[in-house]
Amino acid sequence: MSETAKIEIDGKSYEFPVITGSENEKAIDIKTLRATSGCITIDPGFKNTGSTTSAITFLDGEKGILRYRGYPIEQLAEKASFLEVAYLLIYGELPNKSELDSFQESITKHTLVHEDMKQFFEAYPAKAHPMGVLASMICSLSTFYPESQDPNRPKAAIDLTMHRLIAKLPTLAAMSYKNAMRHPFVYPKNDLGYCENFLNMMFAMPTEDYTPDPVVSEALNTLLILHADHEQNCSASTVRIVGSSQANLYASISAGVSALWGPLHGGANQAVIEMLDKIQNDGGDLDKWIAKAKDKDDPFRLMGFGHRVYKNFDPRAKIIKKACDDVLNKLGVNDPTLDIAKKLEKVALEDEYFVKRGLYPNVDFYSGIIYRALNIPTEMFTVMFALGRLPGWIAQWKEMVENKEPIGRPRQIYTGANERDYVSIDKR
Ligand code: ACO
Repeated sequence: MSETAKIEIDGKSYEFPVITGSENEKAIDIKTLRATSGCITIDPGFKNTGSTTSAITFLDGEKGILRYRGYPIEQLAEKASFLEVAYLLIYGELPNKSELDSFQESITKHTLVHEDMKQFFEAYPAKAHPMGVLASMICSLSTFYPESQDPNRPKAAIDLTMHRLIAKLPTLAAMSYKNAMRHPFVYPKNDLGYCENFLNMMFAMPTEDYTPDPVVSEALNTLLILHADHEQNCSASTVRIVGSSQANLYASISAGVSALWGPLHGGANQAVIEMLDKIQNDGGDLDKWIAKAKDKDDPFRLMGFGHRVYKNFDPRAKIIKKACDDVLNKLGVNDPTLDIAKKLEKVALEDEYFVKRGLYPNVDFYSGIIYRALNIPTEMFTVMFALGRLPGWIAQWKEMVENKEPIGRPRQIYTGANERDYVSIDKR
């Protein structure tokens, strides 16, 4: 007998199927609720609402588990390359040697962006935030590839759009940085790996040679993998919902970049470093800042602490914390911000307010510190997150399309004025 759930409304009982996922998570399937009872459910922030079934990423916030397509994040972060993980997320299985070779070749072949795009960059002010530039540039790609606007194009054409995005995002990201610095753009180099090519486009200058430090490219590979997907988070849900209207993939991913930008989501990595600098410049009185974070009348929150789903620990934070120590040791970086971060972590982890609410350092608490050690400028941190999250967004979009999901269109409970007559301006 399959399980059901009963809901009683106005003395009438309605029965709904309970569906169970492959890791035994349960959901009440209320698809027929409105048609049968006239009621809808309300759940601001979708804290209890599953928007889809998905076979991409499993996470258990209580146990601190994160797996892509069944593979534990710890194993992927230690052993895989970012492009291998991208292939896994998008196509469902780890690639064999020839699959990976042809995927890599396709990505490498499409790294250049159209020369006309240079003019867009030049039109931005030097202080333009690179996330604003990136979101616009990704959407602009759709104008160079108008065939991407056809929702019914063949699979090979869709694959090409996905590969173009993965290939061109590092180029666009590095161009937005170079443009902000008013430095000449560095073109992609096809003999370099994905991470090395990005670092080269970021840091090479026409005046001198640049060879990325293997410690730096390895750390970047790990960071990109850790960020590659996180099931139905704010930006992935945005990508799915925009894509559900059959808007093209470039437009959908651009919307994901915008959603990621906010400090409560991917923008937290920039906000963490800015917060740590502020605390340090203010004299480093941690008790004062912890008290501010606990004060409900004070808008200050400890950035990099807390997570919508992880209430014990963030498994990515555990891996990244170790990577952070390794990178700083190997590069011999002595960053006073790190001392503040370590002290803050200790104080918050022992404070009853944080313990009671399950507020632990999340992935963004440490990623900013590593990016800083890698010489990535603070405003680029969320762009780095976007580079990592891209294959996840693509996989989520692809799954939504293949599942033939309906257009995303939530309902509401109206609480405004009841019908009333228009009043002319002289009588108001
Ligand atoms: N500092 C102080 N208090 C906090 C913090 C924080 N960072 N995070 C949550 N709280 C408190 C809330 O005030 C609330 O307290 P209350 O129960 O007394 O009202 C309680 O903890 C629960 O918080 P909610 O905001 O309801 O939790 P939610 O799941 O909606 O929010 C979020 C999660 C947005 C991540 C939140 O913890 C936060 O703002 N953290 C700081 C920003 C951040 O680091 N974001 C990155 C997330 S990771 C990522 O996107 C990759």
